[in-house]
Amino acid sequence: MSSTSLCSLHSSTVSPSLSLSRFSPTSSALSYSDPCLSLPRLSLQTQPLRSPNLFRVTHLRINPKSKTGLKLNCSMNEPLKVMISGAPASGKGTQCELIVQKFGLVHISTGDLLRAEVAAGSEIGNKAKEYMNAGRLVPDEIVNAMVTARLSREDAKQKGWLLDGYPRSFAQAEALEQNQIRPDIYIVLDVPDEILIDRCVGRRLDPVTGKIYHIKSFPPETEEIKSRLITRPDDTEQKVKSRLEIYKRNAEAASSTYSPITNKIDGNRPKEVVFKEIDSLLSQVQNYKGKIIKPEKSTPDIKKGKESLSQDKWRGIPTRLNNIPHSREIRTYFYDDVLLATERAVKDGKTRLKVDINIPELNPEMDVYRIGTLMELVRALALSFADDGKRVKVCVQGSMGEGALAGMPLQLAGTRKILEFMDWGDYGAKGTFIKIGSIGAAEVDEQDDMYILVAPQNAVGNCIIDDLRAMTDAAKHRPVILINARLKDLPGSSGIMQTMGREQRLEYAASFESCYFFRLLYYAGTQYPIMGALRMTYPFPYELYKRVDESHRKEKYVLLSTFPQRPTTDEINDAFQGKPRAGARKASGIWGFLSGIL
Ligand code: AP5
Repeated sequence: MSSTSLCSLHSSTVSPSLSLSRFSPTSSALSYSDPCLSLPRLSLQTQPLRSPNLFRVTHLRINPKSKTGLKLNCSMNEPLKVMISGAPASGKGTQCELIVQKFGLVHISTGDLLRAEVAAGSEIGNKAKEYMNAGRLVPDEIVNAMVTARLSREDAKQKGWLLDGYPRSFAQAEALEQNQIRPDIYIVLDVPDEILIDRCVGRRLDPVTGKIYHIKSFPPETEEIKSRLITRPDDTEQKVKSRLEIYKRNAEAASSTYSPITNKIDGNRPKEVVFKEIDSLLSQVQNYKGKIIKPEKSTPDIKKGKESLSQDKWRGIPTRLNNIPHSREIRTYFYDDVLLATERAVKDGKTRLKVDINIPELNPEMDVYRIGTLMELVRALALSFADDGKRVKVCVQGSMGEGALAGMPLQLAGTRKILEFMDWGDYGAKGTFIKIGSIGAAEVDEQDDMYILVAPQNAVGNCIIDDLRAMTDAAKHRPVILINARLKDLPGSSGIMQTMGREQRLEYAASFESCYFFRLLYYAGTQYPIMGALRMTYPFPYELYKRVDESHRKEKYVLLSTFPQRPTTDEINDAFQGKPRAGARKASGIWGFLSGIL
C-alpha cells in the first residue's frame, strides 16, 4: 500500500550549494540536477510518513548511465544500508571488515550468525550444521527469521547495516521485500572460479579476533596468531566446488531483485584496491544522502509544547471532497489531521478518546464508503504511536450473538483479515509494536501501552458497549481511542437487545472525549452540493466552514464561526444565515445533515 507523492521541502535544511529552486516537483517525484557540482541527475521518490504530516523523501535514484556509473537507491534520512554478495571466498568477509572500520555499519553475516549457532549447539545450529558441512544452503525459513530479527535491533536501525551473504535465494530476497527492507546499494564481488578455490583452501581464521587470513597471500602477523588459526570445515576443495555450484545456481535469482542498484566490482585484485573502489562507492552514497534535503520535521508543534500548538501550518480544508475516490493526497491530509489531534490529546494525558471522521469515503451512509480508507487511517495512527515506542493494540470487533442472532457490524466485515494482510512498514513493526486483537477485557495484556478500536458498534440485537466497558476497565489508565464508533445502543430487532442498564451504557459511551471531528454539511436530504464542513481538532474549538464557489470551477472553504462545544443544528443554521449567535429566532431548518448525528 505504499505510494508516491509530493513531499514537503524545508529550505533551511538544504545544503547551501543546492538551491531549492532547482527542485522541480512533478506529480509523483522531484528531480534535481546540479550543474555546478557535476552530479548525475537524481530523482527523488517519496513515501507517506509513518509519523504525521506530509511525506518524507525516501529514495534517491541515480541514473545508471551517469558519468560516475554509480547505481543506487537511497532511503533518505536513514543510515547507510548495504548488501554485499559474491561467490564463496570472493572476499566478502575481508571487505566487510574494512567497510565496518570506515563506515561503522552493523555487519550481519549469515555465515557468521549460523556458525555462532552451531558453536553454541543451539537447535538452529544443530539443524544448520548438516547443511553447512555439506556446503548446501540452510533452509530459507531459518535464515530469514535470523536476519529479520537481527535487522530489527536498534543498533542496525541507528548505525545502518551491511548484509553479507544474504539474500542467497529468490525466496530470501522476497522475504526482505515483503518487509520492505531494501539496500541503498548492492555490491557484487566478481572473482574467477580457480582463484576462489585456492582462496578457500588457503583460508584460515583467527578465533580470537575473527580476522581472516590466507596462508599464502595474507599470512598471520605473528607466530602466536599462527598457532591458533583454524580452518573452516567447509573449506575443503571438494566442498568449495559444491558451494560454488550452489552459489551459481541461486545467485542470479537472488540478485535479480537488485539489478537496478547492482555494482559489480572486480574482486581479483589486492584487497586494498578492491576496498578503495567500494569505499568510493559508499562515500558517494553517504554524500548524496547527506546533501539532499531533509524533510520538514513532522510534528514540531507537539514536541515543543502547548504554547506552540497553533494551527498556523494547517492548510485549510481540502477542496474537491465530493470527487470519489479521494486522491491519496486528500486521504493523507486527513490521516495527518487526525493523527496530530490524537497525539496532542494522548500527550495531554487523555485516556478515553474518540475520533469521528466522516469524509465521504468514511461515511457508511454513503455508497462510496471504503473500508480500505478506514484501515489506512488506523495504520497511520498505529504506526505513528509505534514510532514513538508505544506498543499499540489495534482491535476489531468480532461477530456478536449466537445462532440466528449472530451478527457482524456492517462496517467491519472482513477488516480483521485486511489488517492482517496490510503492509505494516519496515522492520516488522507488526507483532512487536503493533498487535491486532478484538474487543473485550481478555484482549488487554500487561505489555500493551494503548488501544485503537476500529469502528466499534452494535450488531443487530447485540450491544458492544458492555464488552467495551470491560475492556476499558481492564485497560485502566492506558489510552483507548475509538475510531468512528457508533454506540447509540439502539434496540435490536424484536426488541431483543436488553433495555436494562441502557442509561448507564449511554452515559459510558458519552464518557469518551472527542479529539477529532470532521463532517461535511449538505442541504437536508441531499449529498450535493457540499454546503460546508464542521471540524474540530483537539484542543481547539469546533470550526464551522462554508464552501464557496470561485471562478474557473475552483472552490474554497471560509470560516464562519467557532464553537467551544459541538454546535447544534440550529446554531449551524444561524451561522450560515448570518444571524447573531444568541437571541436570534430559530431558522426554519433548510440546512441539515446527512445523518442527523449532530
Ligand atoms: P558464508 O560464511 O557466508 O560463506 P561463503 O559465502 O561461502 O563465503 P566465505 O565466507 O567462504 O567467503 P568470503 O567471500 O567471505 O571470503 P573471505 O573474505 O573469507 O556461509 C557459509 C555457509 O553458511 C554456506 O555455505 C551456507 O551453508 C550457510 N549460509 C550462509 N548464508 C546463508 C544464506 N543466506 N542462506 C542459506 N545458507 C546460508 O576470503 C576468503 C579468502 O580469500 C581468505 O583467506 C582471504 O584472506 C582471501 N582474500 C580475500 N580477499 C582477497 C583478495 N582481494 N586477494 C587475495 N586474497 C583475498
